[in-house]
Amino acid sequence: MRISSQSIQQINQAIDIVEVISDFITLKKRGANYAALSPFTNEKSPSFYVSPSKQIFKCFSTTIGGDAIKFVMEIDKLSYVEALKYLAKKYNIEIVYDKVELNDQEKELQSEKDSLFIVLEYATNYYKNILSSHPDGIAIGKTYFTERGLSDKTIADFELGFALDGWDNLLIDAEKNQFNKELLQKAGVIKVNENNKTFDFFRNRVIFPIHNSTGKPIALAGRILGNDKGTAKYINSPETELYHKKDVLYGLYQAKQSIRNSENCLLVEGYMDVLSLYQAGITNVVASSGTSLTDAQTKLISRYTKSVVVLYDGDKAGINAAMRSTDLLLDSGLNIKVLVFPDGEDPDSYVNKVGATKFNEYLKNNAKDFITFKTEILLKDCENDPVKKSKVVREIVISISKIKDSVQKNVYFKLCSQLLNIEEQVIIFEHNNVTVEIEKKKLQDKLKIENKENIEQQPTQEQIDENEKYSLNLSEISITDINSISEQEIIRILLEYAEDQMDEDNNIHQFLFTYLENIVFEDVICAKIIAIFKAELAENKLPTLNYFLNHSDKLFESKLTEILTDKHEISDVWFDKYQIFVPAKDADKVGLVNKSLARLNFEKLRKRLKDNNLKLRKFDSEAIDETENLLQENMVIKQYQQIYAKELGIVIGG
Ligand code: CTP
Ligand code: MN
Repeated sequence: MRISSQSIQQINQAIDIVEVISDFITLKKRGANYAALSPFTNEKSPSFYVSPSKQIFKCFSTTIGGDAIKFVMEIDKLSYVEALKYLAKKYNIEIVYDKVELNDQEKELQSEKDSLFIVLEYATNYYKNILSSHPDGIAIGKTYFTERGLSDKTIADFELGFALDGWDNLLIDAEKNQFNKELLQKAGVIKVNENNKTFDFFRNRVIFPIHNSTGKPIALAGRILGNDKGTAKYINSPETELYHKKDVLYGLYQAKQSIRNSENCLLVEGYMDVLSLYQAGITNVVASSGTSLTDAQTKLISRYTKSVVVLYDGDKAGINAAMRSTDLLLDSGLNIKVLVFPDGEDPDSYVNKVGATKFNEYLKNNAKDFITFKTEILLKDCENDPVKKSKVVREIVISISKIKDSVQKNVYFKLCSQLLNIEEQVIIFEHNNVTVEIEKKKLQDKLKIENKENIEQQPTQEQIDENEKYSLNLSEISITDINSISEQEIIRILLEYAEDQMDEDNNIHQFLFTYLENIVFEDVICAKIIAIFKAELAENKLPTLNYFLNHSDKLFESKLTEILTDKHEISDVWFDKYQIFVPAKDADKVGLVNKSLARLNFEKLRKRLKDNNLKLRKFDSEAIDETENLLQENMVIKQYQQIYAKELGIVIGG
């Protein structure tokens, strides 16, 4: 059977691309077109466009584009036929099939995926019918669901079913319906044992079909009827071409509209949690199905919203799971809150106990942003032990380092500083250290991969040297600061004027490097650039701008683009913050170099002073000696600061 061309035409006439795509992602009007964050990547600024007049979409970050049918195929990995069927259903079009029998070749061509969809749809309907019509289905399956509080509507909306007790109830019925065993086995609804005996995968279990985001069953889950600890409580269909457990969120099809409307997604662990909340009218809920959350799942969520509340069971395992998956959620750029239930409760039991109103209240009053959540949990075990507390700081800071948005990051620095009662500067200091470590680790991993790729081709000495000097200075970067503008200015001068004359004996790079000798650059990329400069200069080579722009590490490119294009902004920021006048033109290069160096030194001293004062605050009466030393050093620092301040034309208070 083949979808008739009239039907295809009819579907094409009915569909509106904006409507179709809006079922999956939120579109924002942009002139005559619509824009959105691409559902195919994890981007932060929209590069996905829909043109209603042309009835096409285009995703510029992946180059995927086409008509509405293509979109449905891409978003849910459907075949052309399945996409047509989905659209026909959406627009209430009855598909007419051409009454031609497929020849063998055409039959083969009908993709395996399509057949799997058909089997899953069949099995879902089969189990659904047992639940509603078979005497045992009603007596056992339906009763089970009713006892757990589910209504007929919820049962219907999620297509719940029942698998009778017995080895081959489904198998017999399926064969009656012309399904062959091989296909049934591929779809995961029957199993073959060593003796080549075939039997149903699900026996004497209530059935929860798992749908993709277009509402097609792609797998089934089955729960035992009692609480027998000896049997797996839930079993899921095996992985198939349609079903990768890790990529699926249970309930998404039923929840997606509500997630979009409420601009929020509740994430629970279990099937029953989804069903009970849905029934209580809390419909923006999906389940990760017991696994810890995956990248694919967060990507799915971010198609519909950027805000997630993760609901966890109120036991140790639940809390641990919460801790594990929040970091992943942060990584994905989502805004996360965490809600933990009273011990022994899960969302299902809790909503059944207190009802929807109280549940919503509990949600509102107890959902915590992840930093507060994590900090509170970790702090519980560490009383006032400073060693343990510093470990907590580190843990939290690692989480914060996962956040991509710098504004959000700053909010968390503040919050964390309040919660832990530690100066914000110290948090930022730790954060930067962690970032350097992560960068370093990434770099090492990258080198490992590169080396693996060139397994036959050993890295040349040149490459090794290159990598060495590249990672060289990273370990030296220990002092950190929020402000790297002064560092960036030096880098800019090095790249733009390295060979200009500074004085009679030196050109600018020679001059600069004699003064940079003892200065540690805190910005990771700036530090790398300086390290490369040093190493190259040692070999009488001068790295050019192009050297960095073409470097395999693309961080250079983005950093340098920023440094070289934001000249004006740098001045403004600098001026606002420190009332330091920044020459707008580079005409006076000698002056520029001198001022930039003074500025860099001034910054470093300011930072040093701050660090010392922090230490001083921590010392008690027994550390008189160290206290003396620090006070001494501070006096010297202040004297030097005055010198640089003078050079910069600013006045600093005592
Ligand atoms: N799960 C699973 N296999 C198991 C146990 C659990 O796949 N053997 C998954 C299911 O998706 C389940 C979720 O993990 O819904 C959470 O498990 P659990 O908390 O043990 O079950 P509940 O959802 O509370 O189930 P119920 O209320 O039916 O006991
Ligand atoms: Mn439960």
